[in-house]
Amino acid sequence: MPNTFILGIESSCDETAAAVVRSGELMISNVVASQIATHKPYGGVVPELASREHLRAIVPVVKQALAEAGKTFQSIDALAVTQGPGLAGSLLVGISYAKALAYALDKPLIAVNHLEGHIHAVLLEERQKGYRELQFPALALVVSGGHTHLYLAEQRADSWSYENIGHTRDDAAGEAFDKVAKLLGLGYPGGPVIDCLSKHGDPHAVKFPPSQIKHPDRRVKSSTPSQRTREDGPPTAVAARPRFDFSYSGIKTAVLRYVETHNMAGSIDARRHALTPIVKPKLEDYLANCDKQTLDLVASFQRAVVGDLVSKTLAAAREYEVATLFVTGGVAANGELRETFEREAAEQGLPVFFPSRPLSTDNAAMIAAAAYPKFVAKQFAPADFSAEVGMALR
Ligand code: KG4
Ligand code: ZN
Repeated sequence: MPNTFILGIESSCDETAAAVVRSGELMISNVVASQIATHKPYGGVVPELASREHLRAIVPVVKQALAEAGKTFQSIDALAVTQGPGLAGSLLVGISYAKALAYALDKPLIAVNHLEGHIHAVLLEERQKGYRELQFPALALVVSGGHTHLYLAEQRADSWSYENIGHTRDDAAGEAFDKVAKLLGLGYPGGPVIDCLSKHGDPHAVKFPPSQIKHPDRRVKSSTPSQRTREDGPPTAVAARPRFDFSYSGIKTAVLRYVETHNMAGSIDARRHALTPIVKPKLEDYLANCDKQTLDLVASFQRAVVGDLVSKTLAAAREYEVATLFVTGGVAANGELRETFEREAAEQGLPVFFPSRPLSTDNAAMIAAAAYPKFVAKQFAPADFSAEVGMALR
């Protein structure tokens, strides 16, 4: 179906987004209203404020996405909306609006898993560049503020299937970036700031022990189907296939211990006071308020997280003999992560693909792209579907 225009809507966390995508392969418009300014004073996303901001932004964002695409409500073919995972109140704003719109326009509505969206951001952009010869199975690392998940992704006819072969046992990698930045008085969100500052520090200055996962994952170990979570897959797959899990709460605690044992509290407070009044601090503002010790700590933290993400993902890629690697989600915007993956995957002879930076973080183009195969397969959402906060991808 070469000219299918899908309006995607995304509101799972702190970005209200809408986009029009043609047939899963051409992004016509992509509008994202960020809530960073709202949540910044709290150092993280406040769910109630997020829902309120989505309510405020959703109508203008959708109208802008249609206008920029040169489309009207009547001239789109279908709507797609994020069903989960995400914050309940935030998801419900997007879902309620999309349902009402689909009903009023008498157009089909497709429910999309946010994580599937992140994976399809890569596919959308590769198709847009004209590259259609991707080899499968692919291994996808979805690494964001809420997730650090590894999926084997395969396409059979028009439908996609995913098998989860690893996830974080505690904090997501992006969450660790955000918590460490908050701890060091660098504001919110932490990933982009740490990314920029790391270039100015010595990544070998502070040694962090490698993350250790001592206990088997209880969610995977359970032997009866009733004890198993939806993410785990069928019993045979669980028993036979090795897993590649992550853990990032230990490194966050190690940074805290370092701060305590090196008496950094005073300089952190001073930095917080200096940066808080600046609405959008620039790199120079951060650098003017960071000593060498802080820059070294930040660079060492980033190097440790990147090293862990890359080594585990490439080990999984070898174990599962995948043909292609996708790295996607907000943390995929990280410069050192991209460079390290590119270098080390090349040594392994493995092609690696990332979304562009704007499509790495949350957006609705990825939702509209992931919806296209479902549109072709006529997998439309039932009228009574609702938000699924912990929605698994399979
Ligand atoms: O995918 P995303 O926009 O939202 C979620 O689904 O969570 O990811 C947001 C996360 C935040 O934790 C943010 O700090 C992190 O992605 N992030 C980065 C970078 N840009 C965003 N982390 C490291 N380096 C970056 N350049
Ligand atoms: Zn996301």
